Amino acid sequence: MYHPFDMQRRRILVTGAASGIGRATCVALSQLSARVSAVDIDAEGLAETIRQLAGDGHSQIQLDLTQLDQIAPAVTKDAAANGSLSGAVHAAGLPCVEPIRLLEPDAYRRALIVNTEAALSLARAFQRKDVCAPDGGAIVFVSSVMGLVGSPGSAAYSMSKAALHGLARGLALELAPRRIRVNCVAPGFVNTPMFARLAGFWDPQERARVEADHPLGIGSPEDIANAICFLLSSAGRWITGCILPVDGGYTAK
Ligand SMILES: NC(=O)c1ccc[n+]([C@@H]2O[C@H](COP(=O)([O-])OP(=O)(O)OC[C@H]3O[C@@H](n4cnc5c(N)ncnc54)[C@H](O)[C@@H]3O)[C@@H](O)[C@H]2O)c1
Repeated sequence: MYHPFDMQRRRILVTGAASGIGRATCVALSQLSARVSAVDIDAEGLAETIRQLAGDGHSQIQLDLTQLDQIAPAVTKDAAANGSLSGAVHAAGLPCVEPIRLLEPDAYRRALIVNTEAALSLARAFQRKDVCAPDGGAIVFVSSVMGLVGSPGSAAYSMSKAALHGLARGLALELAPRRIRVNCVAPGFVNTPMFARLAGFWDPQERARVEADHPLGIGSPEDIANAICFLLSSAGRWITGCILPVDGGYTAK
């Protein structure tokens, strides 16, 4: 029986697959019967993700996404070995939280490369005729509410995520004739290892303020994974160029 969220016979590549939102996305996709190509720099985390997946036919690619010229060869090799891709999710990301007076070019450039330029390289690789499934597919970039609103100390991170919104909209129009959709999910604060590292610097008042900013509370990785699955699936087939906040109400005010 047809189900619009069913991912059977689809292979989806997910970056940032070793942790947090990327891992939860891999797990959710596998539960919807997709086969997953899991990409991350962290080999141990990748192996753990693969262990958590339902079904079989998954693959893992250990890759440092700052090596932009290695993205297309790795994606093409995976598609040749395991089958064409129906979707790609860019969930790998780095935080970059510093007041501007302390912001070092090396730190923000690294965030910009992983968060933004790697997304562009991934999209370039995905749209290739020897990679993307003949009936098209969907790309989802994981941006952030910080790409939609400002926050002190987050200027460089916001820049890297807002750029994804422009990238998604431009690619959505360019790739629509080939039935390739391109969207972003923009999470609020989500309980992942990245969040734990940031929250480690907060005092109790700061923590309470961040929690109060989310009327539905802090999110879970699964909350974001579910939205990504929706955008990848046939249920999202008329959605492209969209920035979907998944933020417990953070941007509602
Ligand atoms: N957690 C949050 O509150 C939150 C909020 C908004 C947006 N986001 C975004 O969601 C995405 C996932 O974040 P998360 O919270 O799951 O973080 P996380 O730190 O738990 O996971 C990020 C993953 O990216 C991988 N990665 C980092 N640099 C890499 C590189 N050079 N090459 C390959 N892989 C690399 C890490 O190894 C890790 O597995 C990020 O893009 C982040 O900016 C997170």
